[in-house]
Order: sequence, then structure tokens, then C-alpha cells
Amino acid sequence: MTQHIRRVTSYIVAGLLCAGGLAAFLMGGFSANARPSRAEERFANLAKEVVIPFEAQIRHNPIAANEQARQAGLEIYQRSCSTCHGEDGRSQGAYGRSMYPPAMDLTSPHVRKWSDAELFWIVENGVRFTGMPGWHEMLDEESTWRVVLAIRQLQQAGPKQTAAASLALTPEQRLREGALMFRQENCVGCHKLNGEGGGVGPDLTIEGDRGRTNQWLTGHFKNPPAYVPGSLMPATINLNDDQLQALTDFLQAQHKKK
Ligand code: HEC
Ligand code: HEC
Repeated sequence: MTQHIRRVTSYIVAGLLCAGGLAAFLMGGFSANARPSRAEERFANLAKEVVIPFEAQIRHNPIAANEQARQAGLEIYQRSCSTCHGEDGRSQGAYGRSMYPPAMDLTSPHVRKWSDAELFWIVENGVRFTGMPGWHEMLDEESTWRVVLAIRQLQQAGPKQTAAASLALTPEQRLREGALMFRQENCVGCHKLNGEGGGVGPDLTIEGDRGRTNQWLTGHFKNPPAYVPGSLMPATINLNDDQLQALTDFLQAQHKKK
């Protein structure tokens, strides 16, 4: 995607909808296998307020990725970032998790997919409408590039949650984890839940009453058009199987209030 806007706030989704713009979108009938159209790509990226200017995307990390630079970056990271993102970058601490949206797991595919230049920009500017502050006044450019190296270092450790770890969660913990993922992945940008959220996709307040199997739900998260031909829902690529299962449990628990 070459346009300047990588991801646009979900609030715009609601705006588009109101404007009736989406009707035109939907009637276009996107096929699952064809290369996504520009419109569709943009639609799939309607997730959060991260708008990275093109000039910022083509910068190169001027700091050589050696041990010394990484160490310096990790020190800045522990001082400035670990309160919310945790010492290991996985944002498992109570403080980061309680934010709305929660502090993001910096080792997740979601964050891995950013280039160094994009990470640099995100750290400098922060993420609007979230608790992620911009650091351009607190960190000089070199320090920020070092922090980018530190994030890459933390990502080397790979995904943490294993099947064994999730099985160890109690059902209540799994529901909480699912609710957390629902916010982290900004599903509310397109779906209503208990009266809150966008209207692009179906209201999920009663998803547990729709009679979907767990397999259908997790399969659909991974590849929506394989289950609903022409589906516009973006594949949930940022979560591991345990997190998808937690999300499934969470949705299966949504029933019509009596
Ligand atoms: C006060 C808490 C807080 C601190 C401190 C903080 N962050 Fe964040 N960070 C957040 C939150 C909340 C999000 C989730 C924003 C979102 O959903 O996009 C986030 C998201 C991110 C993302 C992912 C953005 C995206 O959408 O992909 C990166 C990268 C990041 N932070 C890096 C850092 C770095 C590096 C530091 C230290 C220099 C830092 N953060 C300090 C709260 C914090
Ligand atoms: C960009 C908008 C968008 C986002 C973001 C989005 N969805 Fe969807 N979703 C849709 C659309 C459109 C449909 C209807 C087509 C379909 O079923 O695939 C849908 C359908 C669904 C369904 C099927 C409901 C049913 O039983 O028929 C579920 C469940 C669902 N979404 C859950 C989620 C979850 C969980 C997330 C976050 C990880 C999410 N969606 C993110 C647009 C979105």
C-alpha cells in the first residue's frame, strides 16, 4: 500500500457508514482470492489511529544494530516503557492490561509487522485516542532508534502463550482474556457489543445464541471469506490459537439478556 494512510481510526468506519459509503463498498462483492482492491485494503486497515506519513515510512535506522546499542535501548525501554509494556514487552502487567485499549503486546505479530521506520514513528508520535504517549519530547532521535532495536530484541523471544498455558487458565480467566482481545483487536470498531461499537458487521451481543460451533468461530476469525463468501471482515492475524480460543469462549458467552 503506498498511500499515506496505513491505518485509519475506526471512528471513521462509523462515519463512512452513516454517509452510506459502505453500501457501495458492500455491493462491490469482493472475492476472497482476488488481489484486494485499494478500497478493500483500506477497509481491512480501518483499525486504529496510526496514520504514518509516507516520508516517515522510508527512513532507515541510522544506529548499527550491535550489542551496545541494543543494551542502551533496553535500558531506555526499562525506564520509559516497561511500566505499561512489561519488562519482556508482552504487556502482561495489570496496569497495561487495564488500559482501554490495553497496552499492546510488543512481541505480537501486530507489532512485528511494522518496519523500523514505522516503529520509530509510532514511538515518537504515540497512538491517538489510546494511552500510548508520544515520546518525541522525552527521547532524542538516537534514543528512539535504540528503543526500536530493543523492541526487535524483545521480539526475538517469540510468542509466549502455549497451549499448556491457556489450559491452565480457569474458564473465568479465559473469558477475561477473550474480552481483552476483543478490545485489543478493536473488534468494536465494526461490531456492536451491548450497545457499544460500530455497525459494519453484525451485532455480537447475542453471538452465543446464533448456534455457531467453536470450530466455526475460530476458523472464521482466521479466514472469514472461507466461511462467509465475500466477507469483508479482516482475518485476525495478530492472535495465537489460544487467544483465538479465548475470543471464541467470550463470544459464545454472549446471550440475549432476559
Ligand atoms: C502509559 C502507558 C504506556 C507507556 C509508558 C508506553 N506505552 Fe506503548 N502503548 C500503550 C498502549 C495503551 C498501547 C496500545 C495502543 C493501540 O491500541 O494502538 C501501546 C502501543 C504501543 C505500540 C504498538 C502500536 C500499534 O498500534 O501497533 C508500540 C510499538 C509501543 N506502544 C511502544 C512503546 C515504547 C517503545 C514505549 C517506551 C518508549 C511505550 N510504548 C511506552 C501504552 C504505553
Ligand atoms: C473492518 C470491520 C470488521 C472488524 C475489524 C471485525 N469484523 Fe467481524 N465481521 C465483519 C463483517 C462485515 C462481518 C459479516 C461477514 C462475515 O460474517 O464474515 C463480520 C462477521 C463476524 C462474525 C460472524 C457472526 C455470525 O455468527 O454470523 C463474528 C463472530 C465476528 N465478526 C467477530 C469479530 C471479532 C471477534 C473481531 C475482532 C477480532 C472482528 N469480528 C473484527 C466486520 C469486521
